[in-house]
Amino acid sequence: MNFTTKIVNWYSKNKRDLPWRINKNPYSVWLSEIILQQTKIQQGLPYYLRFMDKYPNVFSLSQASEQDILKLWEGLGYYSRARNLHKTAKLIVRDLEGVFPSTYTGLLNLPGIGKYTASAISSICYEERKAVLDGNVFRLLSRYFNIDFPINSPLGLKYFEQLSFDLLPEINIGDYNQALMDFGSTVCKPKLAKCDTCILKEECGAYANSKVYVVPVKTKKKPVLIKYFNFLIYISNDNKTIIERRDNNGIWQKLYQFPLVESDKELDANALLQNPQIQKKLPSTFYQLKLINVYPQVHNLSHRKLYIKFWEIRLKNIDGNSTSIQNLDNFPFPIVLTRFIKSYFQNN
Ligand code: ADE
Repeated sequence: MNFTTKIVNWYSKNKRDLPWRINKNPYSVWLSEIILQQTKIQQGLPYYLRFMDKYPNVFSLSQASEQDILKLWEGLGYYSRARNLHKTAKLIVRDLEGVFPSTYTGLLNLPGIGKYTASAISSICYEERKAVLDGNVFRLLSRYFNIDFPINSPLGLKYFEQLSFDLLPEINIGDYNQALMDFGSTVCKPKLAKCDTCILKEECGAYANSKVYVVPVKTKKKPVLIKYFNFLIYISNDNKTIIERRDNNGIWQKLYQFPLVESDKELDANALLQNPQIQKKLPSTFYQLKLINVYPQVHNLSHRKLYIKFWEIRLKNIDGNSTSIQNLDNFPFPIVLTRFIKSYFQNN
């Protein structure tokens, strides 16, 4: 039996029971694929269920506000996915009468849909002959065929695109693609691969050459940048605070945050007060500054490592725009701030 047949047979017995597999509705398949782009199934599943509950079709999603969508997305990270979800829903309703494009090429034109997602949706919903290449598939193929050149180089990518296309079965393309992903994530796992019981063990090139944990090979990532974030938690005597909306650039686009002083070095209270960024942000009615967390909280993003300090600033009243502390729950924040709000304001 060849690779493809073995995978297809394996899937017929071991397919995971997932809600977006119940039917081939492009809306639910699209939603699940966007959520799963950078997220494991276990983490993404509750979000998928909440989205389907609140926005059961593309029309309801298109009518939502971007802020409500970001709020429901809170905690999943890579928020551009949520904004593109909204853009795509609006575009499909406005220009396509609510009907998803039924081809790979048509899907590829939509915001947030790249080669992977267009292949997944077009093969799962419309049986188009497109092979999916996600992290699971790269790992499975590079191990089975013992491929040790970088999967993320232009040449590597071309090679894998051709290989995965050549391996497609005659029929049931969508099931085959999902079989690869399920096999990759439950058997051919990154760290604890289940080689002992694997149905492909006999022919697996990496297994035969003791390279299971050597391939796939990737070219070096960009170095991680270290930044110090000082969030200013203003609290007025009448329990108001200040939040601001991040702009459209960099991390956490369009999410809310407390006023922020960024630095390349750790700041103590004196250094913070002398920082030019805070000079502009410190109202004259402030009477106390206190560090809330002695040990900076570490937050890892894909290209950055953040050391986060929270500073409480007490003041009599806030002149400009302010929000009552009880009202903070209504705004979408990055997850570090949501956790901070929960632990700090609910315990104080
Ligand atoms: N990961 C992303 N999409 C998937 C799918 N449709 N099946 C299994 N794993 C996935």
